[in-house]
Amino acid sequence: MHPDMKVELAGLALRSPLIVASGVLGSSTGLIKRVSENNSVGAVVTKTVTYNPRNGYENPTAVDLGFGFLNAMGLPNPGYLDYKNELAELRDKIEIPLIVSIGPSNSEEAAEMVKALNDVSDAFELNLSCPHTEKLGLEVGSDPEKVRSITASTRKYTSKPLFIKVSPNVTDVVEIARAAVEAGVDAITAINTLKSMAIDVNAMKPVLSNTYGGLSGRAIHPIAVRIVYELYEALEVPIVGCGGVYDWKDAIELILAGASAIQVGSAIAYSNDFKIFNDIEKGVNDYLVNKGFGSIKNIIGLAHKC
Ligand SMILES: Cc1cc2nc3c(=O)[nH]c(=O)nc-3n(C[C@H](O)[C@H](O)[C@H](O)COP(=O)(O)O)c2cc1C
Repeated sequence: MHPDMKVELAGLALRSPLIVASGVLGSSTGLIKRVSENNSVGAVVTKTVTYNPRNGYENPTAVDLGFGFLNAMGLPNPGYLDYKNELAELRDKIEIPLIVSIGPSNSEEAAEMVKALNDVSDAFELNLSCPHTEKLGLEVGSDPEKVRSITASTRKYTSKPLFIKVSPNVTDVVEIARAAVEAGVDAITAINTLKSMAIDVNAMKPVLSNTYGGLSGRAIHPIAVRIVYELYEALEVPIVGCGGVYDWKDAIELILAGASAIQVGSAIAYSNDFKIFNDIEKGVNDYLVNKGFGSIKNIIGLAHKC
């Protein structure tokens, strides 16, 4: 028996539930093309693109803590107009859905970006959750009213599937997600990185040039599981689980908590030639066979019924 691993996610038909998380591959369209050729990858989210080009922060911008990464890249990207040209070229070369991540700082920027990028994307992921950029990301995404207005403005200009990526750095993540759902998002991606910092004890100063960064990887996995579980309890909208997925067990945990699909980020850095996607897909497949489930859909949110 081969369990059905195909997923229908907010109107996107995915050949696999595994999605490349935003940012880890940078904005290189060459890498996006390469990862899309892996049959275990269902979709790719681009690096977040902003209204204006951004250089990013000075080094050091990332540190491997062993149990996860701490990064403050500063959302380096060429800005939405330049990136549009790159994405237009890429779009014809890849066979899986391309989810374009946008990081507007207000409703007007959101409207302009979505209008311009609509033809080169299969879906949008609204990143209102980056923990280390001024006037962007979390500064916007921790206020339910700003989330509501930016989401509504994005929704107005695209009929493509619209995801919002939420932050764990808020008191009530359900309140933020609910505002986005009421304003028309089709799915929620949970979670972005956690605001954190590290100090170099020899230099006696913060490790990152930006002082604060976002923690990702193994350390945040239980937080992602908790948030996916809470969102599934409270809202009737598909959830994409993201945070510390390194193997099939991490993925299954998020699916049992309520995720319909899974994003993999930091773990890609440890994987040779994106093999991690094949390993996770095989592990999920074997788990379904062993448990006697014919489709991955049958186990979404199952931990709530026990
Ligand atoms: C180096 C790096 C860059 C990232 N850039 C982005 C980004 O541009 N946009 C975004 O929404 N998330 C970004 N993220 C967050 C990831 O997409 C993901 O939400 C987070 O790392 C948790 O997943 P993980 O533990 O599998 O890495 C970045 C993460 C890392 C490690």
